[in-house]
Amino acid sequence: MYKPLNISDNIFYVGVNDRTKHLFENLWPLPKGVSYNSYIIRDEKVALIDTVDICYAEIFFNKVDSVLGKKPVDYLIINHMEPDHSGAIEWLVNRYPNIQIVGNNRTADMLKGYYNITENVKMIKDRDILSLGKCTLQFFLTPMLHWPETMMTYVQEHKTIFAGDAFGSFGTLDGGVLDTQTVPEKYEDEMIRYYSNIVGKYGSQVQVALKKLSDIEIEKICSTHGPVWTEKENIGKVVSLYDKLSRYEAEKGLVIAYGSMYGNVEQVAEVIAAEAAANGICNIVLHNVSKSHHSEIIRDIFKYRGLIIGSPTYNNKLYPGVESLLSAIQNRAVKNRCFGYFGGFTWAGAAVKHLKEFSETIGFETVGPSVEIKQSLNAATLEEAVALGRNMAEKLNADAVRD
Ligand code: FEO
Repeated sequence: MYKPLNISDNIFYVGVNDRTKHLFENLWPLPKGVSYNSYIIRDEKVALIDTVDICYAEIFFNKVDSVLGKKPVDYLIINHMEPDHSGAIEWLVNRYPNIQIVGNNRTADMLKGYYNITENVKMIKDRDILSLGKCTLQFFLTPMLHWPETMMTYVQEHKTIFAGDAFGSFGTLDGGVLDTQTVPEKYEDEMIRYYSNIVGKYGSQVQVALKKLSDIEIEKICSTHGPVWTEKENIGKVVSLYDKLSRYEAEKGLVIAYGSMYGNVEQVAEVIAAEAAANGICNIVLHNVSKSHHSEIIRDIFKYRGLIIGSPTYNNKLYPGVESLLSAIQNRAVKNRCFGYFGGFTWAGAAVKHLKEFSETIGFETVGPSVEIKQSLNAATLEEAVALGRNMAEKLNADAVRD
């Protein structure tokens, strides 16, 4: 039994918390867990917006029953087919055999492929309307945010948007579901980590979606993960955060990500960081790629404008953790960064050569000099590392004044 949880008059929260999984998508660490949010609109007709991960289906259906009792669900609105939200669909269809499933032409293919569901599927197009009685739903297709079928559902009378993954965050809802019942700031870093790693590749599609949303008045944002945003100030903040992140805009600050087997390359990172700090850069994050999860490094690369990467030479290549980080950066099409690099070797250098190639292909603004140490820092390479830290700081300071 659950006490029904109202978002507004006839909109209810029926989502669940996952404090068990270690990895979201079997990739991304969940130190603070994650919520799978689902919502019911109880009107003359009843609509369910998305479901939850199959592991939580039993809790989910108990919550649905607490809101509806014996009343059936008439429509399942599928904003997103990724199985963390579509997992309970088969069970839902078995429970409510007359349910109509609402999605778009990209949803249908996934419904068939994942769940062999082909009947009672209602296809909608961008901006189509569906009346539940007093509530009017309007659908906005938002492809590649972050799957091709993703869409959002707007309840006109409540000025409430069900946004799919957009504006969502890692982190469970510990008691409070609404932003007014929690401390929104505690979700900010996890929202950026979610965005940068999962949605980050699709900045231009996010911009298209934000433009669509600018046509409507929004008083509540109900995402599939994290808190429900109801306060005007918070809605402004999360929308502008998405706008900024999807433009690849970043604040003054520096990420130094390095691999280091025995600490020599790490010492170069320390020298660069100290000099950048001495020249006015307060937000500096050093990440040892062998310890920090890539999702944290990517999060900080989305936050800060400066990026310096260092690597030892390993089997005549980059250090493996650095190589995969470069791939993750390229995969997310990160733009508008000031980039420097350094590396080391013991008998034959290759890391700096590969970082140079990366800098030439990625399209970042390069800040030099690059630094290459043989075995350990010496007087000459120390000077170069100091110069790289100073030059990066000067560049970031100048950009901050310009912006
Ligand atoms: Fe929360 Fe893209 O699934």
